[in-house]
Amino acid sequence: MKPIRIDVTSERGIYPVVIGSGALAGLPQLLERQRVGPQRLVVSSTRIWRLHGRRIQRILPRGDRPVMMAAGEGAKTLATVSRLYDACLDRRLDRSGAIVAFGGGVVGDTAGFAAATWLRGVGLVQIPTTLLAQVDSAIGGKVGVNLPAGKNLVGAFYSPSLVVCDPDVLATLPRREFRAGLYEVVKYGIIASKRLFDHVDRRLDLIAAHDPTTLTRVVADCCRIKADVVMSDERESGLRRILNFGHTIGHALEALTGYRRFLHGEAVAYGMLAAARLSVLRGALSEDDEARIGALVRGVGRLPSVGDLSARQALEAIGRDKKVVAGRLHFVLASSIGSTEIVNDVRTRELVLAMKAIGMRD
Ligand SMILES: NC(=O)c1ccc[n+]([C@@H]2O[C@H](COP(=O)([O-])OP(=O)(O)OC[C@H]3O[C@@H](n4cnc5c(N)ncnc54)[C@H](O)[C@@H]3O)[C@@H](O)[C@H]2O)c1
Ligand SMILES: [Zn+2]
Repeated sequence: MKPIRIDVTSERGIYPVVIGSGALAGLPQLLERQRVGPQRLVVSSTRIWRLHGRRIQRILPRGDRPVMMAAGEGAKTLATVSRLYDACLDRRLDRSGAIVAFGGGVVGDTAGFAAATWLRGVGLVQIPTTLLAQVDSAIGGKVGVNLPAGKNLVGAFYSPSLVVCDPDVLATLPRREFRAGLYEVVKYGIIASKRLFDHVDRRLDLIAAHDPTTLTRVVADCCRIKADVVMSDERESGLRRILNFGHTIGHALEALTGYRRFLHGEAVAYGMLAAARLSVLRGALSEDDEARIGALVRGVGRLPSVGDLSARQALEAIGRDKKVVAGRLHFVLASSIGSTEIVNDVRTRELVLAMKAIGMRD
């Protein structure tokens, strides 16, 4: 199957996102075409490298090894970045060289931040290995790390020169991680494409079975939507907000549970259910569309429970969120499956009602 190519225009030029089952086989040629120099620092983590390293081994300079970082959100720190700088120094990585991030969003964000800052910026190639990273974090040029005080507090906008999404690597992803990424796919359908939503709805079985053709198409559709949004709003002032559908309440749920109970996508799943309810309450969305959204979100799989979580406490967490600009909460509503509207006059009472509707307590 010939890979799909999507060109993304960014401040640093145009870069291709190449999506396809088996696309990694063509990586050496893709790097050459993008003029990525032979000095390449591959960053990955042990498990991912053990499972899939052979797919990209050939792009390493002879005798070189990848740099491993620990897995998990806890590794997305300045300390890890500092270790990556040591590796850059060790290999004398200069501006003609590139950092190749081979992993999920944690590896991509951290290695991407190192690439943005080492010598004020070297080449960056993103090879995402989770569904979330393929449809979301690898595209759009946001890189960064966490501080003890909060997530993603330090970062940059720094576009890669190439992104390669090969759905074949998703076969080894833990099922729950895969489903968590799938909720973001559903999000793209709701905010921008009824066609994608319907496709996922009809082909959920094939997607769950990792059918290569279906996955390639789904990942490509998401990449196209994210690319379109990002290109029209690279620095996140307006349109890019629609990507936050389901995220206001989702982030609150994550914060409320100390980032332990939910995977990000699972919290977003609840956030989307609540946002759909709120959209109906405000007269923006039909009950039929809400029911379809509910059925698909619930159809992806079981979610951790929210029954013990307080809607009022979630409200306080929402107040602390980055999305509150100058005291105003910008909230993304669905106006149908495939379109959104952003409002900034959502009332506390409405938020509480919507959260209680998804099963949270008062
Ligand atoms: N930059 C952005 O625009 C953006 C957007 C969304 C999310 N993010 C960030 O992405 C991060 C989350 O990314 P994630 O969901 O990919 O999590 P992750 O990178 O932690 O990966 C999840 C788990 O899956 C493992 N894994 C990865 N690929 C695998 C594979 N092919 N087979 C088996 N196991 C594999 C990882 O080692 C890890 O344990 C967060 O830090 C979030 O802030 C960034
Ligand atoms: Zn998200």
